Amino acid sequence: MKVTVVGAGNVGATCADVLAYREIANEVVLLDIKEGFAEGKALDIWEKSPINLYDTRTVGSTNDYSKTANSDVVVITSGLPRKPGMSRDDLIATNAGIVKTVTENIVKHSPNTIIIIVSNPLDVMTYCAYLTSKFPANRVFGMAGILDTARYRAFLATELNVSPKDIQAVLMGGHGDTMVPLPRYTTVGGIPVTELISKDKLDAIIERTKVGGGEIVKLLGTSAWYAPGAAAAQMVEAIIRDQKRVFPVCAWLQGEYGMKDIYLGVPVILGKNGIEKIIELQLNADEKAMLEESANHVKDVMKVLDTMNV
Ligand code: LAC
Repeated sequence: MKVTVVGAGNVGATCADVLAYREIANEVVLLDIKEGFAEGKALDIWEKSPINLYDTRTVGSTNDYSKTANSDVVVITSGLPRKPGMSRDDLIATNAGIVKTVTENIVKHSPNTIIIIVSNPLDVMTYCAYLTSKFPANRVFGMAGILDTARYRAFLATELNVSPKDIQAVLMGGHGDTMVPLPRYTTVGGIPVTELISKDKLDAIIERTKVGGGEIVKLLGTSAWYAPGAAAAQMVEAIIRDQKRVFPVCAWLQGEYGMKDIYLGVPVILGKNGIEKIIELQLNADEKAMLEESANHVKDVMKVLDTMNV
């Protein structure tokens, strides 16, 4: 199996590294526009193979998309990351053009591939790739929910002093400060989280999760990469190994949750065909209202893309 990661920055290189050392694909192509950059990162990952014991071939390319031909899955991480004080939406003007060009090139060389978007603003960049690729929506979707739930689960693991492995959660909505964590669907080793934590503490963790990306930007001066890169690789794994995993993914809604023509984070089943099913939860009135608020925010940014004519 062959996977291409476009963008050899922090997120792309981390994703390629996870794909290689976990032997998720036989071949990983890392592509970037910066001369020699992807080649350097790919070579460094390959030189680690005798230490970490993997045989995934990692190959770099400076903007030569012929090297990406016939990829089974493509992860697009290209674009600028956030700087302190910026929202993800501030990136739309620059990143929409980049995501469009990258998608056109990918589609030319891998017409049957599955595309996972990581670039921000996530929901709208996924929409941009969908419009550009003209692929069916089960083959174009975005990575956000795995990252956002990972943050939520990590904070809960710290607070409860339990293994993060035992925390299961689902989170919906856009990848922004209006995301919708769902405590009703959060369990710790099968126990509802609400039995183990006070409401105040849980609310504080939910609020921290919503601005979790911003917390890292403040600390580092740029956005996160270990968790986002690993989250994208986990989606690739579910597809390549046809695992039918249940993940929150930024998906094209056509009536689900009463919404139409919008990319939004929802739980799905991920397998060899990409999104194989969108799971519809029975949300209560409060949860529905939060999801609608998040959807309205995403729609506003989608409108900005529509008027940009990229
Ligand atoms: C974050 C970026 C990747 O949430 O959106 O860290």
